[in-house]
Amino acid sequence: MKKEILLKYNEITDFNNLSDLEKKLIKKAVESSKSAYAPYSKFNVGAALVLGNNQIIIGNNQENASFPAGICAERVALFSSNTNYPNEIIRQIAITATSKKFEISEPVGPCGICRQVLLEYEEKQGSDIKILLFDTKKIIKLAKAKDLLPFYFKEDRLKKL
Ligand code: THU
Repeated sequence: MKKEILLKYNEITDFNNLSDLEKKLIKKAVESSKSAYAPYSKFNVGAALVLGNNQIIIGNNQENASFPAGICAERVALFSSNTNYPNEIIRQIAITATSKKFEISEPVGPCGICRQVLLEYEEKQGSDIKILLFDTKKIIKLAKAKDLLPFYFKEDRLKKL
């Protein structure tokens, strides 16, 4: 039987159509991307998320000469928020990338590992994490992390139900 998965998202080209909070998250993610430590890829990623208590947490990618030791911007922000505010929900995360080497003409989506981490926090908190992916021309709005990862792996698979 052939099946299809429908992905619903909003594409926005006018930044004025965003809420004040979304504009702030976007500004913070861009700022954060500028101080990423990405001397090897020269691909700077910035993330900014807002918690239930309205606190904004930022993250950017951190690279290392031992390449696998590096970590993505999204996970820096997510792990930092769950370290410092383990009982606060994550309401929304904005993600962007900039590169001095080439133009990034489409919003960049989070890598598979970051999708998995986003999803686990969504499950843990029992509410959706909204996602904003954006570049200078376009914003993609997703209602929840689950939309980014069909057939995802979760903790209940680790035990016999
Ligand atoms: N990167 C992120 O920070 N987030 C992603 O979702 C994709 C990739 C970083 C990792 C590495 O420092 C650089 O971008 C190139 O892969």
